[in-house]
Amino acid sequence: MTLSEDRLQERLTPRAVQFYPQVESTNDLAMEWLHQGAVSGAVVVADEQRKGRGRLGRTWHTPPGVSLAVSMILRPRPEHLPQITMLGALAIHDMLVGLGLATTGIKWPNDVHINRRKVSGVLAEAAWTGDKLVGVVLGMGINVRADFSGSDLAQQAISIDPALGRAVDRVDLLVDLLARADVWAGQLGTKTLFTAWQSRLVTLGQTVTYGGLTGTAELVTPDGALSIRTGDGQLHRVIAGDVVVEDGS
Ligand code: BTN
Repeated sequence: MTLSEDRLQERLTPRAVQFYPQVESTNDLAMEWLHQGAVSGAVVVADEQRKGRGRLGRTWHTPPGVSLAVSMILRPRPEHLPQITMLGALAIHDMLVGLGLATTGIKWPNDVHINRRKVSGVLAEAAWTGDKLVGVVLGMGINVRADFSGSDLAQQAISIDPALGRAVDRVDLLVDLLARADVWAGQLGTKTLFTAWQSRLVTLGQTVTYGGLTGTAELVTPDGALSIRTGDGQLHRVIAGDVVVEDGS
C-alpha cells in the first residue's frame, strides 16, 4: 500500500503530521516546523527524499515507494539530549523484534542491524536560540523494501521485507514505530532507557577499530560514549563516529 496524506491522517490522528510525496530532507522541514512552534511528537513523513542526510555528512537514500523517512519533533530538556538518538534506535529495534525479526541489534552508536547489516539509521539535530534549547528533530530512515543487490551497499545494507519473507505495510510500521517512540520519549532521562539501549547493543564485547585504534568495545556510559580497551590495557573513550567491527559490519 502506498503512503498517502489521507491514510496517515486517518491512522495517526490526533498526532500533528505533515506528509510529502517528495522532499529534499524530512529533517529540514521538521526543523522549520519546530521553529514555527510545532508541538512535541509532531512528525514529518515523506515517500521519497532527494537529499536525505545521514550522520557524519553522509547521504541517506530514500527512493520512492520502498522506505520510511520520518522526522519527529521533540522538546526535551537539554540534559536529555544524549538519549534522543538512543530512543530512536530503541523504537526501531523493538518494532523489528515485534515483527518477528530475532536477529536484530543496535550497532554503536545507533545503527539498527538485521543479521549484521544496516536496516535503519537515526540522525538527531538540535536547534538552539543562544544557550536555550528550542527542540530536537529526530530523523529515522528505515529500509522497507529497498533493493541493494548489485549496489555498493549490497554487503552492508538490508531491507525489512526480504529479511522477514513477506511484505509489510509502511503505514502499519509507522504507527507502531511512533507509538514506541512516544513510550521511550516518556522515559527520557531515566536509567531504564539507557539500560534498554545498552542491552540491545551488539557491539559490546566485539573487537572494533576506530580510526587507528583497535581493541575490545568494553562499555558504554549514559552519555552514549563507547570505551574501547586496547591491547596495552588502556581504555579509550569515543564519543562520536563509527566503529568497524571485526566481522566487517
Ligand atoms: C545515518 O545512519 O547516517 C542516519 C540516517 C538518517 C536518515 C533519516 S531519513 C529521515 C531523516 N531525514 C534525513 O534527511 N535524514 C533522516
